[in-house]
Amino acid sequence: MPPSAIPEPGVRPSEFRFHCIDCGHLSDSTSPDYRCPRCGDLLEISFPEWNKSGLSSRASGVSANDLKSTWKQRRLSSAPADLSGVWRFRELLPALNDGYVVTLREGNTPLYEMPQCARIAGVPHLAAKHQGMNPTGSFKDAGMTVAASFAHHAGYRWIACASTGNTSASMAAYAARGGMRSLVLVPEGKISWSKLSQALDYGALTCQLRTDFDGCLRLLQELVLRAPVHQLNSINPFRIEGQKTLAIELMEQMEWQPPDHIIVPGGNLGNSSAIGKALLEMRNLGLISRLPKLSIIQAEGANALVRTLREAGGKRLISVSAETRATAIRIGNPASWKKAARVLEATGGACEQVSEVEMAQAKAEIGAEGIGCEPASAVTLAGLKKLVKQGFVKAGETVVLILTGNLLKDPDFTMEFHRGDLFAGSPHESEMTALSMLRRPPIVLDATLDEVLRTLEQADKTAPSG
Ligand code: F0G
Repeated sequence: MPPSAIPEPGVRPSEFRFHCIDCGHLSDSTSPDYRCPRCGDLLEISFPEWNKSGLSSRASGVSANDLKSTWKQRRLSSAPADLSGVWRFRELLPALNDGYVVTLREGNTPLYEMPQCARIAGVPHLAAKHQGMNPTGSFKDAGMTVAASFAHHAGYRWIACASTGNTSASMAAYAARGGMRSLVLVPEGKISWSKLSQALDYGALTCQLRTDFDGCLRLLQELVLRAPVHQLNSINPFRIEGQKTLAIELMEQMEWQPPDHIIVPGGNLGNSSAIGKALLEMRNLGLISRLPKLSIIQAEGANALVRTLREAGGKRLISVSAETRATAIRIGNPASWKKAARVLEATGGACEQVSEVEMAQAKAEIGAEGIGCEPASAVTLAGLKKLVKQGFVKAGETVVLILTGNLLKDPDFTMEFHRGDLFAGSPHESEMTALSMLRRPPIVLDATLDEVLRTLEQADKTAPSG
């Protein structure tokens, strides 16, 4: 049975069970691969107490308003769990004793106004929730604090993941903080050095496998059945629970008035599943009165969900052989496709794809706003432009983009874009000329005042008006 936490006055933590997303089987424990013992599909965490209270306006016997004010008050506390932008919302998380919480003060990420990008996309109001401002630079930390804490509580010595880089960086950090060893499986040559270097620094046993992400994940699923390692990919439903708090925090930042649209990148599809779960739970608990449409954007070269919905009506997964410069979402066989497809249906969201050039352009536009993000995050703005053109996002509607990773996660992409050789030798090379206004290549000069002044004057004449 899950551990019970020490309750605070008036607020009870939530007991939970594992629920199969396909056959509905309920259980108190799971096998190491986090698959349903009956049908083999994915599990999610469910909260039976909420069902008992009819999922009206009460979570664990507390009203929605009580929850909102409890969460607000915790912002004044200096207890580690309250300083975490994840555990601050612990009533909507599986219950865990405080002593087991492994936290790096994750969450608490900013919501930025994006007026320039709004103009570019043609919407009146655009904001970006920047999950790249988390301790290891990506949205993964919100899920990792919960999954690592439960692994710590269960006494695991080794935790492991397959990754395109961010999961591994995050898991390695949380393992180190929780006194656990970490095993990282990444595709050789297909993740950025920044992310790889994080895993090394945080002490992970890092294996670069001669395969792609999907091959790494397949191998991990076999490994956890053979070796005493605990898997922390987003198949692990505790990860999804932590990632839910992104949406809870967003609604709190918006004074519980949901935007019309939330747009998120799609890779292995854990994050979109988590945001959707949070939105549905918040609506059912009376924390918000209506659902935003949650839309998922993929890279054209890694568009398994787009194809699954368009060509198979969302009934079976169409895997693809993934190829994109956004290495974070270079995934062809997304594990959580079924959860994501359901979330799209439940919220009425869209699923779109964008080209490599559209993504590169959007990344530079976000950067020019002083925000910056990694390439995978930029698919959100590129996708928004398409959804506006299609009339799916309507005049006057409010939109929030979820930026998933920090600009510094993939400096090679940024440098190559600005130097102009990002797509050198590829079919996209000629399209790059259209983006020359966005490029700011570094200039090498002799170290004289004249040279710098001349360069400044020239730039001043040619600078685009802001
Ligand atoms: N954006 C970034 C920066 C990512 O690192 C990922 C996934 C995604 C978007 C897609 O999120 O998989 O939940 O749909 N990165 C994983 C990793 C796969 O291993 O770091 P998703």
